[in-house]
Amino acid sequence: MDKLLIEGGLPLCGETSVSGAKNSALPMLTAALLTTEPVTFSNVPELNDIGTMLRLLAQMGVKVDRQGSTVTLDASGLDQPVAPYEMVKTMRASILVLGPLVARMGDARVSLPGGCAIGARPVDQHIKGLQAMGAQIAVEQGYVHAKCRRLTGARLFTDMVTVTGTENLMMAACLAAGDTVIENAAREPEVVDLANCLVAMGAQISGAGSDVIRIRGVERLHGATHRVMPDRIETGTYLCAAAATGGNIRLTGASVSHLDAVVDKLMDAGCEIVAERDAIRLKAPARLTAVSIRTAPYPAFPTDMQAQFMAIDAVADGTSIIRETIFENRFMHAVELIRLGADIKIDGNTAVVRGVAQLDGATVMATDLRASAGLVIAGLAAQGKTLVDRIYHLDRGYEGLEQKLTALGARVRRVR
Ligand code: UD1
Repeated sequence: MDKLLIEGGLPLCGETSVSGAKNSALPMLTAALLTTEPVTFSNVPELNDIGTMLRLLAQMGVKVDRQGSTVTLDASGLDQPVAPYEMVKTMRASILVLGPLVARMGDARVSLPGGCAIGARPVDQHIKGLQAMGAQIAVEQGYVHAKCRRLTGARLFTDMVTVTGTENLMMAACLAAGDTVIENAAREPEVVDLANCLVAMGAQISGAGSDVIRIRGVERLHGATHRVMPDRIETGTYLCAAAATGGNIRLTGASVSHLDAVVDKLMDAGCEIVAERDAIRLKAPARLTAVSIRTAPYPAFPTDMQAQFMAIDAVADGTSIIRETIFENRFMHAVELIRLGADIKIDGNTAVVRGVAQLDGATVMATDLRASAGLVIAGLAAQGKTLVDRIYHLDRGYEGLEQKLTALGARVRRVR
């Protein structure tokens, strides 16, 4: 298993680029299931999760053509509307095929994802919404089996804000008969990016980006081309890495517009941030000031940036309180940060972080994608060598991590 060896203590300085958004590309690739015409996506990041999704789609009969960051999908030969456990267990986002499959094929068998490192993460809201649109759903042998002649538009209300739930239901509603309204919809920018892609494919959608999305079902969708938005979490992660190391960086291909909550906290921590047309600059202070955060659905502070902020708070001046309100078990990086010398106390969904003057390198274990990012940031800020074990988690979500960090002057090396 690959590990990442980091020689910490160097400020990150220089320039690197931001890739396309994983969480935008994943649902968008499944949207290609909704049409018999080819759909082309550009700015698709080269990540393990994207590879898993493409393999899943290919197994269903979708023709996949990948040329670097451009992917063309042709689902005209789709004949196996099944997502097997072996694939779903490695990537929960596989559940995103459920809505498009039942909408286009009237039949879908998708394995239940089961638990994951950051909590139970059920998919009951996806199922409830499809049932309200007329799908007959049975859970058999660990699979969700959904059937329907044609979905019908409905008024849907999700019990909590769910990102992939909103995306699944929005995609399904595109081919349903009549109008669908999704209330309590997720407002994440990735939902908007997906809606824009669906509209380019001929869907009739309004309100994406607000908590009420309206979809007028159409008989069929057609081919389109769409560019995936920049990854706001990758952007935020590099900004935190520069902040934690007293660095000065410029990120190209990045957009500040979806990062308000993160940028605001980095500025509270003492960083100078300048938004350019297609880039972001960050200059860190000599020592960061601790900042408290509370995760919540967009536009509030993203749970996918919580671990990275715990790392910067670990070396900041002062005490911060971090509240995680989205996932029940998302502090696994805390015990690893403590191994690097951080002072963190956990009580339920709250962490109290007392900043220390210095972290010291050690071997740490990555437990999930964003936790791993937090550990890398801490390793970059720590004195001495840090070995991050199980970095396959990072390969799921950070394209060219070592290359990008090296471009910023970090001393990092993959150890096989
Ligand atoms: C998406 C993101 C993930 C991010 C998360 C929250 C993708 C591929 N992944 O995950 O990176 O951390 O949003 O911003 O876009 N819930 C239920 N029942 C459901 C659905 C969700 O109880 O049917 C709960 C979850 O357990 C969680 C909360 O709702 O506590 C939010 O989860 P959700 O927004 O669905 O997360 P994902 O879409 O899986």
